[in-house]
Amino acid sequence: MRSDANIAGPMTEPVPGPRTESAGEDVSRETPSPMDDTPIGRAAQLAVEALGRAGEGLPRPEQTRVMVIANQKGGVGKTTTTVNLAASLALHGARVLVIDLDPQGNASTALGIDHHAEVPSIYDVLVESKPLAEVVQPVPDVEGLFCAPATIDLAGAEIELVSLVARESRLQRAIQAYEQPLDYILIDCPPSLGLLTVNALVAGAEVLIPIQCEYYALEGLGQLLRNVDLVRGHLNPRLHVSTILLTMYDGRTRLASQVAEEVRSHFGDEVLRTSIPRSVRISEAPSYGQTVLTYDPGSSGALSYFEAAREIALRGVGVRYDVQHGATGTQKDQHTMTEGIQ
Ligand SMILES: Nc1ncnc2c1ncn2[C@@H]1O[C@H](COP(=O)(O)OP(=O)(O)OP(=O)(O)O)[C@@H](O)[C@H]1O
Ligand SMILES: [Mg+2]
Repeated sequence: MRSDANIAGPMTEPVPGPRTESAGEDVSRETPSPMDDTPIGRAAQLAVEALGRAGEGLPRPEQTRVMVIANQKGGVGKTTTTVNLAASLALHGARVLVIDLDPQGNASTALGIDHHAEVPSIYDVLVESKPLAEVVQPVPDVEGLFCAPATIDLAGAEIELVSLVARESRLQRAIQAYEQPLDYILIDCPPSLGLLTVNALVAGAEVLIPIQCEYYALEGLGQLLRNVDLVRGHLNPRLHVSTILLTMYDGRTRLASQVAEEVRSHFGDEVLRTSIPRSVRISEAPSYGQTVLTYDPGSSGALSYFEAAREIALRGVGVRYDVQHGATGTQKDQHTMTEGIQ
């Protein structure tokens, strides 16, 4: 199996169908009905069963893991990754909060959460010091999944925060005061490195960078990594880049595998072995207010996010299923990460 196969690992090995190797518009090979009596239908059925067994066998972290999904490049899959990983982890039995920190409110939309202007939102938390508990809403359809929505007000927060006390650590304080037990908090950042993203970096311990498998994939990443260094040096010593996820991977193109190779050689162990394929189902799901995990559980997109979540959960307790390098890997020295990146 190629190291950057879309779907890797024990959970999906028995599933024979959803790979993306033939030509066509978009070949994510999703299935219209899990009950279809076709190989793909049976694959989907297996996947649904796998989802039904969610919650078994995956360790929950001892302490809440706060993960910041960031990349100042637009459209690389931050929001898609946030909501689908969050749903996958919740389906594994974890309690997960998504914080939508992007004025576009895409994560709120994708989770089916109302976020019109009057809804109490993360803006109220950051700017008005409203307790986080007063804005968090349960996500319909996925038990254990919650969302702090973003409304359009948040667009002004970038400016309004400038004059406020402790402007960089307002989200951190709100999270610390939140008393509900949580296994994961996933923060969806806007495509910029302003005060909203800084608030996320101060609040979190882990940075997850989605990288789209296209030309210029690494361009601009140096700036993000330097910001991570700055925040670690001055405001949050625990902060580190823990996870890189390759998104919109199209196994038919040489470019995708070249980018994947470059990213893997640069970041090494931080890169998840699972990459996310380009998939129509993934892009369709938000317009139904759903994650791909509920929209089409048998699709290649759902399976790959499910598998990525599994890797993240296992890594949280020090287990890496990297066959070549043994069961555990070491954290790359964060100070070497910016080398060779613009
Ligand atoms: N694996 C995928 N396959 C197909 N389409 C995808 C995939 N991942 C994301 N997309 C689509 O690509 C677009 C950008 O994705 P997304 O909104 O997650 O990126 P983003 O980094 O959050 O963007 P922004 O910087 O604007 O916040 C969306 O239309 C989304 O549906
Ligand atoms: Mg987004």
